[in-house]
Amino acid sequence: MNQDCPLYQDLSEVLYSEEELREAVARLGARITHDYRGKAPLMICILKGASVFFTDLIRCIDLPLEIEFMAISSYGASTVSSGEVRMVKDLDRPILGRDVLVVEDIVDSGMTLSFLKRTLTNRGASSLRLVSLLDKPSRRTVPLNVDYSCYQIPDKFVVGYGLDYDEKYRNLPLVGVLDPKVYTK
Ligand code: IMP
Ligand code: MG
Repeated sequence: MNQDCPLYQDLSEVLYSEEELREAVARLGARITHDYRGKAPLMICILKGASVFFTDLIRCIDLPLEIEFMAISSYGASTVSSGEVRMVKDLDRPILGRDVLVVEDIVDSGMTLSFLKRTLTNRGASSLRLVSLLDKPSRRTVPLNVDYSCYQIPDKFVVGYGLDYDEKYRNLPLVGVLDPKVYTK
């Protein structure tokens, strides 16, 4: 993407460049490859935010993995979580006996992933771990441990690499802090 693209002008700061993300995702893929050797994990992408991270990550994992997609209700045009979690698209197949890895874009309050963890554990997965590109631990309202994450970040609203504000900025190839002037009008 060209740096003249107007999407860049709405950022107050770049947190992780395209190159840094590529390296972090490759390192995470190598870790998962190592930890799941001899297994065929089922990787679940949480739409839409995790889609960019997910498609890069699975190509850095040298295992006979399978993929599935799930969608959870999102923020809408707000930078603060509604606290309400709703499943919008369920899995196409059962997960009984599978080694499941749930892949998210960012963990904030922890509501989304704790809901998913409960739901999927009840369906009889043989193991379940949580993967997130970003983690904002200071924002937790429910206790939740992320098993694999690339970066822990401070309490700032970020966009790019799949993360959106009001459905925009997902196609930015980097992760940046959205300038508050965009959402405080
Ligand atoms: P949680 O349920 O509060 O942990 O919220 C997780 C979801 O909130 C993520 O999947 C994102 O869709 C959204 N979210 C949280 N923080 C941000 C952010 O800084 N930028 C964009 N989306 C965010
Ligand atoms: Mg999301």
